[in-house]
Amino acid sequence: MSISMISRHRMWVFIGLIIVVLASLLFYGYWYYVERDVPIHHASDEEHFKYGSFGAEFDNGVPYLIWQIMPEVCSGILPGKDSYTALGFIYEEGHETPVGAPLRTVGVPRVGLNCATCHTGTVRVKPGEKAQVVVGMGAHELNLQQYIRFLGACAEDPRFTADNLMAAIEEKNDLSLITSLVYRHLIIPATKKALSKQRQLYSWFDHRPDTGPGRVDTLNPYKALFGFDLIDGDKSIGTADFMVLWNQAARAKHWANWDGNNNDVSERNKAAAYGAGATPESLDLPGIERMEEFVRNLAPPAYPFSIDRELAARGEPIYEKYCAMCHASDGIWVGSVLSIAEIGTDRHRFDAQTAELAARVNTIGEGPVAIRHFRKSEGYLNMLLDGVWARAPYLHNGSVPTLADLLEPPENRATVFYRGYNVYDPDRVGFVSSGPEAEKAGFRFDTTVPGNGNGGHVYGTRLAAQAKAALIEYLKQL
Ligand code: HEC
Ligand code: HEC
Repeated sequence: MSISMISRHRMWVFIGLIIVVLASLLFYGYWYYVERDVPIHHASDEEHFKYGSFGAEFDNGVPYLIWQIMPEVCSGILPGKDSYTALGFIYEEGHETPVGAPLRTVGVPRVGLNCATCHTGTVRVKPGEKAQVVVGMGAHELNLQQYIRFLGACAEDPRFTADNLMAAIEEKNDLSLITSLVYRHLIIPATKKALSKQRQLYSWFDHRPDTGPGRVDTLNPYKALFGFDLIDGDKSIGTADFMVLWNQAARAKHWANWDGNNNDVSERNKAAAYGAGATPESLDLPGIERMEEFVRNLAPPAYPFSIDRELAARGEPIYEKYCAMCHASDGIWVGSVLSIAEIGTDRHRFDAQTAELAARVNTIGEGPVAIRHFRKSEGYLNMLLDGVWARAPYLHNGSVPTLADLLEPPENRATVFYRGYNVYDPDRVGFVSSGPEAEKAGFRFDTTVPGNGNGGHVYGTRLAAQAKAALIEYLKQL
């Protein structure tokens, strides 16, 4: 072997080493910025419920640094102010993101959704008072449809460029050179693409009435994922009010969801997680199980005003006679479904669930992450009424603003009102839904719009005025 052959051999070894080192760095960089998963841990179960993750951030989380500056870069798209508070998100001190917008690092910190996005709301007893955050209550102020629309519109806005975004990001954060390059060349283009794709997936929004705050179409997102034609084919409206999540243990043997379409609690929770952006592969089982455990024995909030106990006591026998069979924990029909013909409320949400959709959804996942128990039911659920004061507006489509309205024959119920204002009205028992403040803060809800019908559920509507007052007083303490 000559000297020159040895040095050539050495050179090849050297080049080989450099290639290996570069490849490892590249792999490491890819893992670091794209796949590295750092689950979040909150010591308290309630914090975990409000800010924890069930794994929606992998495919559908928006990189936090981009999410944070989108309202200002896309100034003017959000209603009123360039902040997520304009959409009804609840911000608490000491957190970078609002309730229901968990931050989890998947490569980079990403913002997802969790159960609290739709299942935590606020109440104020008077204008000017501090809002009370009620965990488990429907997020009646949150306009989730507008949030999804905003993300898509901003991603496709001409201002959504790497230059604009990087300038806004670097104004708020000190990024290393590598991180800055990765954002500019990798994360920003990927985010733009993912959000545009999401916008496409939700293009059927524009072919249905707006949901407004506190409601979401719970069925058509799945149909879109399965490739149903939601524009020229299926025109159904699956809009439903957010339900409440307390005392889940008491409901373990009940059918769940407004139309009682599933009787496996843990499975229907996983379906909610899939609806909110998790996938069978990304689902964080311990994360979702901890949320599930938290709501098993979560108590409903106490009525925040005084209750006339004597009047309430007079309401009890009226409740027993006219309501208990369907709504009390020992009621013979509670937890089962009442036929659509009998209940007579708006049928759009009921019709949006189909046997075909149930069959498709029942193929999702395998083993512990599988969905197998959805069905097409015959009507709407006879549900427990615990914490009923905090469920306003009432019925599955949130079409009746107060309990006083619900006990009126349908033709006397409010036909137009404003949803999403959090000041409570103890006289009619529901949120203040008319007048200048409600109009300013709220969404104009028109009951003549398809899916918003306020008819049906005529129980108790023919009672005398004093009997209604007593019944309402009793309902406040449930
Ligand atoms: C995008 C908003 C949203 C998210 C996120 C969400 N839910 Fe819901 N949830 C709803 C709506 C809307 C309903 C009513 C569904 C229907 O019948 O159409 C509901 C219904 C329920 C019910 C049925 C309650 C009953 O009394 O029948 C349970 C239980 C529930 N959700 C649990 C969860 C859990 C647990 C999570 C987190 C894993 C979660 N939800 C995430 C919106 C949401
Ligand atoms: C025959 C069964 C039945 C009887 C009797 C009945 N309800 Fe209901 N109730 C239902 C069903 C089913 C729904 C869901 C309908 C819907 O959302 O479209 C419902 C919904 C409600 C809601 C809305 C709950 C929410 O979370 O928005 C309230 C409040 C309510 N009922 C109160 C009463 C009162 C008060 C009485 C007695 C005067 C009564 N109901 C009698 C079956 C019944």
